[in-house]
Amino acid sequence: MKKLVLSTLSVAVMAAGSFAADGKALFQSKGCTACHQAAADTVGPSLKKIAAAYAGKEANLIKFLKGQGKAVVDPAKEAVMKPQINTTKAMKDDELKALAEFILSHK
Ligand code: HEC
Repeated sequence: MKKLVLSTLSVAVMAAGSFAADGKALFQSKGCTACHQAAADTVGPSLKKIAAAYAGKEANLIKFLKGQGKAVVDPAKEAVMKPQINTTKAMKDDELKALAEFILSHK
């Protein structure tokens, strides 16, 4: 019994791990890294800054990526980010969730 519980746990942990990896892979493959770095502001705000603005608001972050929300991090540069929403809008719900979780992991 104990063994069963343990192996169930490790499967859950592995699943959680690959989920985070997916978000990171998506962030890279969709070209987001061209403007967003982990800790430094470049063309776009750092992931750290975005994570702080959306702390505890994953649903709002997903809404923004679906084109249903307003920019809260750097509204003055919204026009630069707007075309990128065409990319994220086309993504599946589970992909957007992974992407949002990856962004929010930058605390
Ligand atoms: C051409 C440069 C560029 C690319 C590529 C880019 N971004 Fe951005 N992004 C920006 C800029 C500039 C801002 C600041 C304006 C704003 O806050 O909307 C921003 C802001 C954001 C925000 C904060 C939104 C808010 O509420 O203010 C999120 C989340 C975000 N980007 C996610 C992404 C994701 C995911 C991708 C990849 C699909 C991506 N960005 C690709 C330039 C870019």
